[in-house]
Order: sequence, then structure tokens, then C-alpha cells
Amino acid sequence: MKGVIFQRLNSKCMPLALCLGRNVTGIHCYPRMPVQRTLFTRNTSLLTRVLLRTPKTEIRGAATEKKGNKNVAWAVALALTGVCGIAFYVMDSMDQKRKIGKIKQNIESSGNIEIGGKPWTLTDHNGVERTDKDFLGQWVLFYFGFSHCPDVCPEELDKLAKVVEAFNERSDLPNIQPLFVTIDPDRDTPKVIKKYCKEFTPTLLGLTGTPEQLESIRKTYRIFFSTGPVDENGDYLIDHAIISYLVKPDGSFADYYPKRVNQKGMIQQIEIQMKKYEKEKQKQ
Ligand code: NI
Repeated sequence: MKGVIFQRLNSKCMPLALCLGRNVTGIHCYPRMPVQRTLFTRNTSLLTRVLLRTPKTEIRGAATEKKGNKNVAWAVALALTGVCGIAFYVMDSMDQKRKIGKIKQNIESSGNIEIGGKPWTLTDHNGVERTDKDFLGQWVLFYFGFSHCPDVCPEELDKLAKVVEAFNERSDLPNIQPLFVTIDPDRDTPKVIKKYCKEFTPTLLGLTGTPEQLESIRKTYRIFFSTGPVDENGDYLIDHAIISYLVKPDGSFADYYPKRVNQKGMIQQIEIQMKKYEKEKQKQ
């Protein structure tokens, strides 16, 4: 009798006892309730919150566990990619803001007289010597960059080309002459620049020069850049401010447009400058 009672008790209580003891002993032999865990990677708590749900049962076998692990790996990889992307974007915009702030400060502290408006001599992509005098009577948009720039310069030159084309198509407003001045004369030979400029718009004229000539015009437009380390292929990047400068037909500086000013904004602002210039001319 005693044996029968013990057997019955045992059959009813053992599962419960094993369930309760699971957390202590680590035995997993009964279905487990879903447990929600939150992982935080160091220093990026909000950005990398990854919710991991353990499998509903752990008796489904290795296949379920493998699938779960794969999902976890994907979630972590996706979260990390997101974090890296956001961090890169924030750092890049902060760096650009700093550079533009420096230029803005220079422009504001110097006044219009100090920016541009000084004589310069360079060589165009056809090998012809050019000076500031050649462009008097025209609206000019200057851009300083380099043809090996992987993405920013092509994007900016593409925007600049579209802006220029928009003006050149309009009969009520003057044309604009776009000029690309290299900050990398060692690689940007006239031949290289000619091919590069053609990719954007036929009117874009590339300019290079001797180190002294280039330094002189860079100083005039307050252009800052720093050359990065050279890799095993002899390749290197140049960190530079992304700004287009608008020059009036009398050769004086009119305005500047950083990367954040889009195509539409640039067209609007240039149109204002052109109308302002016409008004001033009529007054004289
Ligand atoms: Ni660039």
C-alpha cells in the first residue's frame, strides 16, 4: 500500500519538482515559458537594443536552436551595421560643419573684399593659360576638389552641373561658367581633368597650375584640405571642405554654397544674387 501511494505521489510531484529545480540544476526537460532578454552593447544602449526571444521549447532539437542562433546573429549584425552607419553619418556631418564653420568665420571676418577678387593664373584642361581676367563679364561658380574623390566631389559636381545647366537654359537670366580647380595637381594632369570634367557638363572647365599658383588661389578662397596616408597602391584621399563659390561678373565674390544647400536652394540663392547685382548696377 505504502509503495502504491509513494508511486502515485512520485508521478504527480516529480515533474513539478524538476520544473522548480531547473533554474538551480540547469536541467531542461520540460517545456519552458518564453523568456525575453534584452542585450545592450557597451556605450550604445539605445541604438543597439536587441530583443532576443528564446525558443518556446528546448525539446524541439538542434534544428530549432540553430535557426534561433542564426536569427540572433543576423539581428546583432544588422544592429551593428546600423550603429556604424549612424556613427559615421554623425561624425561626417560634424566634421563638415566644423570645416564650413571655419570658412564661414573667415568669410565673415574678412568681408567680401578679402574673398576672391584677387588676380590668379592657372592652366586649363586644354593646356591654355587662364587668368581671372578671362572670366570678367561672366558669372562663375568655383569648385575645389580632386578627380580621385570617391563620392563627394562627383556628387557636388553633378549638382553644380545641373545648377549651371538650369541657368544656361533660361533666357531671362545670365549664363554661369563652372570652374573646377584641382587640389591634387600630382594626379590631376590637364588630360585627367579634361576627361573628368566631361563626365559632368561640357561647359565645366578644369584648372590646374604650379604649386605656387594653386596655393595662391586656395588662399584667396580660404580652401583647407589635408592629404591622407598613402596606401600600398600609392592611392590616397584628400579631406577637404565641400563648397561652391559664386563670383560676380566684375570678379568679386558673391556667395558660397556648402554641401547641405541642394540644387533647388542653390538656384534660388544664385538668382537672388544675380537680381541684386543687376539692381546695384542700375543704381550706379
Ligand atoms: Ni572630394
